[in-house]
Amino acid sequence: MCGVIGYVGGGAGPSFFLNALRRLEYRGYDSAGIAMLTPDGVAIERAEGKLSQLEKKLDKLPASAKVGIGHTRWATHGKPTENNAHPHRSGPIVLLHNGIIENYRQLKEDLTARGYKFLSETDTEVAAHLLHDEYLRQKSGSPEERLRSALRSAVRQLKGAFAFGIICTDTPETLFAAKLGSPLVIGQADGESYMASGITALVEHTRQFLVVEDHEIVMLKPDGISVESFEGKPVSRPFSKVEWSVSMMEKGGYRHFMLKEIHEHPIAIAQTLNGRIERDSGRINLADLGVAKLPLGNLQRVQIVACGTSYYAALLSKYFIENHAKIPVEVDLASEYRYRTSTVNAQTLVIAVSQSGETADTLQAVKSARANGAQTLAVVNVPGSTIAHNCHAESLTKAGPEIGVASTKAFAAQVTALYLLGLALAQERQTLGQAGLSMLMDELVKIPSLVEKALGLSESIEKLANRYQQNTSLLFIGRGPQWPVALEGSLKLKELSYIHAEAYAAGELKHGPIALIDENMTVVCLAPRDSYYEKTVSNIEEIKARGGRILAVGQENDAHLLDLADDFIGIPECSETIQPFMTTVPLHLLAYWIAVRKGTDVDQPRNLAKSVTVE
Ligand code: F6R
Repeated sequence: MCGVIGYVGGGAGPSFFLNALRRLEYRGYDSAGIAMLTPDGVAIERAEGKLSQLEKKLDKLPASAKVGIGHTRWATHGKPTENNAHPHRSGPIVLLHNGIIENYRQLKEDLTARGYKFLSETDTEVAAHLLHDEYLRQKSGSPEERLRSALRSAVRQLKGAFAFGIICTDTPETLFAAKLGSPLVIGQADGESYMASGITALVEHTRQFLVVEDHEIVMLKPDGISVESFEGKPVSRPFSKVEWSVSMMEKGGYRHFMLKEIHEHPIAIAQTLNGRIERDSGRINLADLGVAKLPLGNLQRVQIVACGTSYYAALLSKYFIENHAKIPVEVDLASEYRYRTSTVNAQTLVIAVSQSGETADTLQAVKSARANGAQTLAVVNVPGSTIAHNCHAESLTKAGPEIGVASTKAFAAQVTALYLLGLALAQERQTLGQAGLSMLMDELVKIPSLVEKALGLSESIEKLANRYQQNTSLLFIGRGPQWPVALEGSLKLKELSYIHAEAYAAGELKHGPIALIDENMTVVCLAPRDSYYEKTVSNIEEIKARGGRILAVGQENDAHLLDLADDFIGIPECSETIQPFMTTVPLHLLAYWIAVRKGTDVDQPRNLAKSVTVE
């Protein structure tokens, strides 16, 4: 779950490497390092902590280098210290790594017996020494040929996952990369080639990308790249163009990426809808939605796999997909699904939902479903991501780059994409009449402007946050589609503000959690006027009767709820279809403002990484 970058070209300075790493800091941020190769040799600087610590050492690096690599770490093996920070060196080889080498212990013993000294506690250093050892064994060819052949031999001995960036003092104009299981993209511009864990690192330098596949080695030179398999078979694939821009990855005047991204809910929803609804014909455009090649009409069931916030988006979609398409939908945590007995067949559609498209558990879950014969669909936000590569079809969520570690606008886009998918299934299975389909499409296109109105609540929620920042625990409740929204609100609060929070389906309260209610407990109650309203209000009464404090989120003109609640957040009037999009906004804002009041690191909460590429 680290970020790796590499450069080869006419010359780049330390700030190039630092800036590219900044774009990847969401992947891990507990230590970092840069290595630059010049005719005088290799210069390496590493630092514990965030990139700002490494920045203090930049003046020790050369002003420019034709080849270099950089790394930002999320520790797995070995504490986040300078010594464990990448890159690691062995003789002429300097290497950095994203992933986990599972068989590192055995390799370490063998290499130690052969005289290699280990300076860090990492699994990565094993790869550096192993490659060096293999390099020394190559007796013929140029240094470049010997290194290539050594790399082929080394990667075949490694178990686990890796994306390596490698430079060597004997090959001063070449950068090497290898991939198995961890994401890696190659970028190409005029006279310069790049490698990185994600396109976000490179968008300011190029839009031309090639996604490296598992079991591939890449040799990068300023004027081009060559790809081969671990067995040495040449591979040829075209580069493709990505439409993301630099401004999409800036804070745009907001104090935090997260606040900017909450304010981008409407555009994320609008872009995800764009081109997919044909209002004239009243049809969902299956080709634009990315599902034209799936046999939607013949499916018998849908399984959705995801983690974290993406899992909650999936849970929410169960309500509307079952309702409109009349097909059973199971929603699973990918980390559980991947180890369960598979019951899929060719009439099962397995959907992997993931912002990053790289989450290891989700990837394995969908790979296993595909291997067992299911149809697979990736609902991902990052174009060209690994999960998309491993599915039969890909439906992009089009939220644009999400930099804040806590997911916000991607959730809104995922729910939108899954809604469209539900309608596409209904259309193909003919479970909704044309009038019903058209009515729901009309509802969907209203969402961005209504959500825009809900964002107007930010100021009042900022004031409310003062009242809740001292809480040590909060409960969130909701019924029907508001239950997954409650789960999402509680996750956001705990990960940003480190306040304990839990969410329950409101009907579950009396089966246990009601014992927690006393005058010290605040319950965030999601109660828009929907089909479950009366029942949710009864739950609120039960909490009130036991002295609990109520923070209610409901429709803005709901006088009864206003009266019942200690604090009230009123969302603009809207239909039941739109309500989950609307109640999500105040919950994201509440978590954000409470975290700001508490002074936590909003965009990079402790212990987290945006792209969880380890199990
Ligand atoms: C929460 C959050 C995480 C992710 C989860 C899955 O704010 O960001 O829970 O939702 O790690 O990540 P993706 O969607 O990239 O698969």
